[in-house]
Amino acid sequence: MGIGAAMSDYDSIDWFTDESLAKDPYPYFDHLRSKCPIQATAHRGVVAVTGYDEASEIFRDPETFSACLTVVGPFAKFLPLEGDDVSEIIEGHRHELPQNEHMVTMDPPAHTRERALLMRLITPKRLKENESFIRDLADQQLDQIVGLGRCEFISEYAQPLATLVIADLLGVPEADHDRLREGFGLMGGSTGDLRDEGSDYQLNSMEWLDDSFVGYIEDRRREPRDDVMTGLALAKYPDGSTPDIMAVVRTATFLFAAGQETTARMLAQALRYLAQDPALQDELRANPERVPNFIEETLRIESPTKTDFRLARRAATVAGVDIKGGTPVMLLLGAANHDPRRFECPDEFRANRPNAKEHLAFGRGIHSCPGGPLARAEGRISIERILARTRNIRLSEDYHGPPSARHFNYEPTWMLRAMEDLQIEFDAA
Ligand code: HEM
Repeated sequence: MGIGAAMSDYDSIDWFTDESLAKDPYPYFDHLRSKCPIQATAHRGVVAVTGYDEASEIFRDPETFSACLTVVGPFAKFLPLEGDDVSEIIEGHRHELPQNEHMVTMDPPAHTRERALLMRLITPKRLKENESFIRDLADQQLDQIVGLGRCEFISEYAQPLATLVIADLLGVPEADHDRLREGFGLMGGSTGDLRDEGSDYQLNSMEWLDDSFVGYIEDRRREPRDDVMTGLALAKYPDGSTPDIMAVVRTATFLFAAGQETTARMLAQALRYLAQDPALQDELRANPERVPNFIEETLRIESPTKTDFRLARRAATVAGVDIKGGTPVMLLLGAANHDPRRFECPDEFRANRPNAKEHLAFGRGIHSCPGGPLARAEGRISIERILARTRNIRLSEDYHGPPSARHFNYEPTWMLRAMEDLQIEFDAA
């Protein structure tokens, strides 16, 4: 196939159904960016943003760009939209959209209220306390794996860790941790599946979790105790009013949805880069203070959230490009984080890259990820403990192939950059 043919393939390829893009989206991102950092695509009226500055600008302008589509993307039933200002249509239909009850799809002023409530729940003090739980949990999980000399890292380490860390953060009683972990195992699938054409969103997948939390919160409101869950149950909005039980419950359960798969896949990528590079393992073992930047570079080069969406309420011009009112705007975070105007040699993994932390993996602006500090702590502590307790971490060649021909499986989703499995081997330290 000549270059010309490949180029035109990329002009017509469908981000929402093409499984080859799930395996390796980066050449497609480069193609889009080479045409324009804000580029119309051939499908569903979507305009794709691959530029770092352009994506940052859109994130920072919630007045013009509504977050209502962030989960459903171009599959909202009311698209395409007509008219220069579609604000009224958005307000008339947003209650029909997936996850409309969660802050991630809200705009001010509703978003401001819910976000303030959340920030009362995950305070710096609470995060600090949570760190010792992360450390203990990391060691407990490693106790089970280290002697075996091999593991499937995502299901045997990363996913259970990510679930239980959020459970602890919210003060879910330890007696219920196993039940929670099982409940999540049953959820299966993920939002943004390339095979479902956007029709089968897991709207209700968190209902079972909501039910557990209703029980906890009702109980603590009736009978406050000296525990974290009581703080959650009694938290008030900034104006002093008490939220409905369901508002608290949704905030709490959404943390599981938002913080689980993303963090687990970040940990998996970090392990992949380590396993591919023995010198890096030695360097980080000798210089643990370099681990945080290594985590930032992992987030930059393989951003777990590939795609966020905004809906242009009205006509706008971003970096000289006109965007019509009613346009679904696809912010490709993985592309923005490979923008050569911001990151030198962006496709190279550089653990000590000076500006790695400028990545957009956690978004920007009013919706920027409130779980960032937690995900970073999980990354740092996990890598420190894994390096301390193992030697000679390597990829399973039987599974992932020899260095010259590695292959990795990726979940078929347009939303997450999610390795399906990571088979690693190691020696006990
Ligand atoms: C590596 C891990 C993670 C990544 C890459 C990630 C990424 C993101 C991104 C890109 C957004 C912005 C969405 C938007 O603007 O449309 C976001 C929002 C959010 N994240 Fe995370 N996240 C991670 C971990 C977590 C964790 C651990 C938690 C919870 C403890 C969490 C909770 C949330 C919440 C509640 C929001 C919505 C905030 C809002 O709408 O104001 N995330 N995340």
